Amino acid sequence: MTDRYEQAHSRSLNDPNGFWAEVAEDIHWVKKWDKVLDDSNPPFYRWFTGGVLNTCYNALDRHVDGGRADQAALIYDSPVTGNTVKTYTYRELRDVVARFAGGLASLGIGKGDRVIIYMPMVPEAVIAMLACARIGAVHSVVFGGFASNELATRIDDAQPKAIVSASCGIEVDRIIEYKPLLDGAIEMARHKPEKCIIVQRPQAKAQMIAGRDVDWDDLMAGAEAHDWVPVAATDPLYILYTSGTTGEPKGTVRDNGGHLVALKWTMKNIYDVDPGDVYWAASDVGWVVGHSYIVYAPLFHGCTSILYEGKPVGTPDAGAFWRVISQHKVKVLFTAPTAFRAIKREDPNAELLKTYDLSRFATLFLAGERTDPDTLEWARRNLKCPVIDHWWQTESGWPMAANCLGLHAYPVKPGSPTKAVPGWDVRVLDDNNQPVKAGDIGAICCKLPLPPGTLPTLWNADQRYVDAYLTDYPGYYKTADAGYIDEDGYIYVMTRTDDIINVAGHRLSTGAMEEVLAAHPDVAECAVIGVADELKGQLPLGFLVLNAGVERADGEIVREVVQMVRDRIGPVASFKTATVVKRLPKTRSGKILRGCMQKIADNEDYKMPATIDDPVILSEIEDALKGIGYAGARR
Ligand code: COA
Ligand code: AMP
Repeated sequence: MTDRYEQAHSRSLNDPNGFWAEVAEDIHWVKKWDKVLDDSNPPFYRWFTGGVLNTCYNALDRHVDGGRADQAALIYDSPVTGNTVKTYTYRELRDVVARFAGGLASLGIGKGDRVIIYMPMVPEAVIAMLACARIGAVHSVVFGGFASNELATRIDDAQPKAIVSASCGIEVDRIIEYKPLLDGAIEMARHKPEKCIIVQRPQAKAQMIAGRDVDWDDLMAGAEAHDWVPVAATDPLYILYTSGTTGEPKGTVRDNGGHLVALKWTMKNIYDVDPGDVYWAASDVGWVVGHSYIVYAPLFHGCTSILYEGKPVGTPDAGAFWRVISQHKVKVLFTAPTAFRAIKREDPNAELLKTYDLSRFATLFLAGERTDPDTLEWARRNLKCPVIDHWWQTESGWPMAANCLGLHAYPVKPGSPTKAVPGWDVRVLDDNNQPVKAGDIGAICCKLPLPPGTLPTLWNADQRYVDAYLTDYPGYYKTADAGYIDEDGYIYVMTRTDDIINVAGHRLSTGAMEEVLAAHPDVAECAVIGVADELKGQLPLGFLVLNAGVERADGEIVREVVQMVRDRIGPVASFKTATVVKRLPKTRSGKILRGCMQKIADNEDYKMPATIDDPVILSEIEDALKGIGYAGARR
């Protein structure tokens, strides 16, 4: 007897047209598709071609019309602004979104135009996203922890007609002014947006530029509600930039139809929530988790979503998550393991948990990085509920591996995000594109075509999409994660195969950091690696080789490069440590041995590569690392 998960998984792979056509009945279409899977132009697969719909209608109006008008759609909970709680019912959210959509339209923004959203976690960020969807504009949310330079790169790539931003964000108790960062980015960018719409928060007033900047409130005061417009299922809904292997980020494209169909399906089948349930993704709208599970999926499903402007600790204490869960009767929480490590560190016995009523709470889902067994066990013991690790990427838009609780709950194996989700044909391949044996490590790849809701391409970069994802393993999408699948079909995601590191659940490119270090006038050569960190999982660490004749103190140069990374990439990079070395270890062909350096830093065993140019350099690296508290030196 096969269980419901097995039936769904095998049907999704053997009969994708039938499987997804049935799932797609669950959403509202203006016109149904001509083709479910359109494979007429491989490797560019499309879903639901010919279909017409509107994402915002499905997120809001549909529920207003269908009896949920007075149910809470969004609860904004902000401990950083004096414990503000503001609830929007579905009707209120629909009305305010329609009004802002009208405001955008009055500025000449329409179908296909891009709008960048650079915002803290305030309701206006969600409203702006949904308003874009309502009029068929393509939003691109840029995480607030990125610096001007990163924003400028995205402005040049997306070429937005308008940018929506705010005067400031609040990091625990620090005001971070966004407007100077925005102005700096526009100054740097070649492309200039016509308009910037600014939410003036009371914590800081932004200087407005006459003719270009518009106050959010003024725009809303004069705006009329705009109805939703029909768009093609294959039209882009959003672009979300993510780290590539260079300083140039990749613009992941998401379409309207596949995204809507797949995300709505995940709510019951993976997360086991029903319409009316309260769902909380403690992330940021700047990340894919925030797009999919703060904004879109919970609203498609008629849930109440929480928008939390705070941290797991410090706002005000390590009981913050328990307070939100109990106050708003949250059923499912989705966050990154790093948040739980932060809570565990401050309140190891979960004393604060005992003061809250978590009786409605059902499940904790974790993603963004591997859930270490200690954190899993701590959460399970204290929350007394299932703790589910699940695996996905910006590119996938929704989980690739999970314990699909709505289909069949499997026993949890610590260290594994369980099995491939229906729609996903996950394989572990060797260098010859052949599947490896159960238990053997290889490249984790997904057989094409990918299911609906995944990236159809990169923004304005079809060839880069093919080169980055589809070339190394013909017939497959390369996830750039390595790992193995055990005999029971459980997937284990161990490490990235590229230069991406995962810092507090944030995906960052060490290559991009190296580009910044290399730009320092005294630096001849450099390398950045990710070293293990108890709280954030990984932290970047830089090695600098200085130009001959540089006589300035090493510490001074290190301080300058740390500041440069902060200024050019942003504080989110958490780049705080670098060391000056005489030389970098390389192969005879000149490839820097970053893997060995990382193992030395983490005090792990490593194999001396046969192709190493000069083994002595590794002991120099070890000494340098010991000097800054790594490589077995006491930290
Ligand atoms: N705007 C401006 N600055 C931001 C920012 C934002 N939206 N988000 C983070 N930053 C800054 C932080 O203030 C910090 O600056 P600092 O170097 O001056 O201290 C820096 O970027 C690093 O931020 P972060 O990695 O978040 O570290 P932290 O020490 O502030 O908090 C955690 C650590 C674990 C509490 C925090 O990372 C967290 O809550 N993580 C939850 C997981 C998560 O949201 N993952 C996202 C994907 S699911
Ligand atoms: P992002 O695109 O920012 O969502 O980052 C995606 C990357 O994070 C993946 O390619 C993995 O390397 C890592 N990741 C996400 N979730 C998990 C998980 N559950 N287990 C292991 N790694 C994960």
